[in-house]
Amino acid sequence: MCGITGYIGEQQATPVLLEGLKKLEYRGYDSAGIALQTGQGVVVCKEKGRIADLTKMVDLNVQSTAGIGHTRWATHGVPDRKNSHPHQSQSGRFTLVHNGVIENYLQLQRDYLQEVEMISDTDTEVIVQLIEKLSSEEVSTEAAFRKALTLLHGSYAIAMLDEQDPDTLYIAKNRSPLLVGVGADCRVVASDAMAMLQVTDQFIELHDEEMVLLRKDEVKIFTLGGERMERALYTAQLDQSDLEKGTYPHYMLKEMDEQPTVIRKIVDAYSNESGKLSIDSKVLQAFKGADRLYIIAAGTSYHAGLIGKQYFEKFAGIPVEVHISSEFGYNMPLLSKKPLFLFITQSGETADSRQVLVKVKALGYPTVTLTNVQGSTLSRESDHTLLLHAGPEIAVASTKAYVAQVAVLAICAYACGESDLELKKELSIAANAIQTVLDSKEDVRKVVEETLTDTRNAFFIGRNLDFYVSLEGALKLKEISYIQAEGFAGGELKHGTIALIEEGTPVFALATQRDVSPNIRGNVKEVTARGAKTSIFSIEGIQEEGDRFVLPHVHELLTPLVAVIPFQLISYYAALQRECDVDQPRNLAKSVTVE
Ligand code: M6R
Repeated sequence: MCGITGYIGEQQATPVLLEGLKKLEYRGYDSAGIALQTGQGVVVCKEKGRIADLTKMVDLNVQSTAGIGHTRWATHGVPDRKNSHPHQSQSGRFTLVHNGVIENYLQLQRDYLQEVEMISDTDTEVIVQLIEKLSSEEVSTEAAFRKALTLLHGSYAIAMLDEQDPDTLYIAKNRSPLLVGVGADCRVVASDAMAMLQVTDQFIELHDEEMVLLRKDEVKIFTLGGERMERALYTAQLDQSDLEKGTYPHYMLKEMDEQPTVIRKIVDAYSNESGKLSIDSKVLQAFKGADRLYIIAAGTSYHAGLIGKQYFEKFAGIPVEVHISSEFGYNMPLLSKKPLFLFITQSGETADSRQVLVKVKALGYPTVTLTNVQGSTLSRESDHTLLLHAGPEIAVASTKAYVAQVAVLAICAYACGESDLELKKELSIAANAIQTVLDSKEDVRKVVEETLTDTRNAFFIGRNLDFYVSLEGALKLKEISYIQAEGFAGGELKHGTIALIEEGTPVFALATQRDVSPNIRGNVKEVTARGAKTSIFSIEGIQEEGDRFVLPHVHELLTPLVAVIPFQLISYYAALQRECDVDQPRNLAKSVTVE
């Protein structure tokens, strides 16, 4: 949440900062700003709104080869100009952008800044005012910066300008992502490598509680204790074209369309030399050595985890618990003797999941992260990483990452057990089935026109695996169309929720599980009798007359891969119908780096 860019080099900084911020907009889009060293001082331009609004305001005549930029997801203070980053110290000497949350900012304000008049409502302003205050006591900006960092409790990625030292960017990181990039004639900093691919693919990872002095030809990394650190460069494995929408109107549509290819890529990536599905032998050992698997995840990744539980239990006989990461920390269950923690996270940056990782690592338990982003925080900090191979997912609504998570979970569970299933073949059938559903977009659009045009709420119901897909369908719909939606286990309706069914209430029912198909159809009858507008999504082999949409046949355990597709499309067309911002829905951000 929140994106940071910084540039110091030979070129004009403004276009690099703005281009970088555009790439980071997925991290937050409430307000944006840049600050530029001009030689005669620092110029700040910031405003509520998107990067496109900022770009219109920026004066391209300002000459500057060093600057910082920020795109915000508000935590402290409403999204307005006053709370937008960059923030400046009272005298204007220091200018700073920040991603994270400073937990003790009110205490710091009371202890050090009573005489300073705060302009914003943010925790960030306290950092920059504190640095100014300490700069009068310390021998250098470097020392004041370091001292201030040691006083902060919480998470931060920081980039700062000192008007009196135009040749340096001051950088720091703790529990919020930040990378330094090394270009031919510049040094850069960014929350995500994709922001700076425009100038370099060579990056340096920063660790928690480190600060950096960045000059156009130099990167000096220090611990907060002052020890100098050396670190090698790595090459970012990202393709610029993966980051573009191309001819698509929205990233979400592009990413949904990529799903068959993603499944095929995963099958390739997880096939060994003899063409059999397999996973890294160390990860395999970790799974096999566990007497219970604890899956930790949030949002869509949690929904994938629920499906993963069935795979590990059915294919490998490993008992599994699935936990919402934000809850796990307060209420850790009694653990088994040999637990293994599996973190599922598209971004690899989710703070809720990371706080669990930190806790269980401290207890000495083994950890695996299933992520789309190699080198992300959770990937670096866990013992093992399994990759999703889905390519960058930019739309806030997760689609191809979910399908990738389900597919990789199936492969891992399969690799841990001895099943007769020809999973490789079944996954390839599933990829084709996904393509068939994607080719029926117009039909799904009609479902939306028939059912969601005037509604204020909607229900998704299913049983067994279909229940988990219903949870995901409901999350997708509410997230991008703002229609209040709930996913329910069909059997639970009559225990309360059926009271909400009125004349015309849309109910989408999944019927892909043979054993429970009669039961879910019974639930559909119950809600139809009470006025609901019902649509059944069934699957070849168990379809019945009147079903609204029949999915191509796939193996029963792999139905979540295919059943989710019409629900993704429903949410997409519902969002379009309501003229919502599909890729950047209100109040959200792609990477949730605050707890
Ligand atoms: O990056 P992660 O998978 O850890 O993110 C978890 C959730 O924030 C994420 O899945 C969220 O629910 C999606 N935006 C839903 O589409």
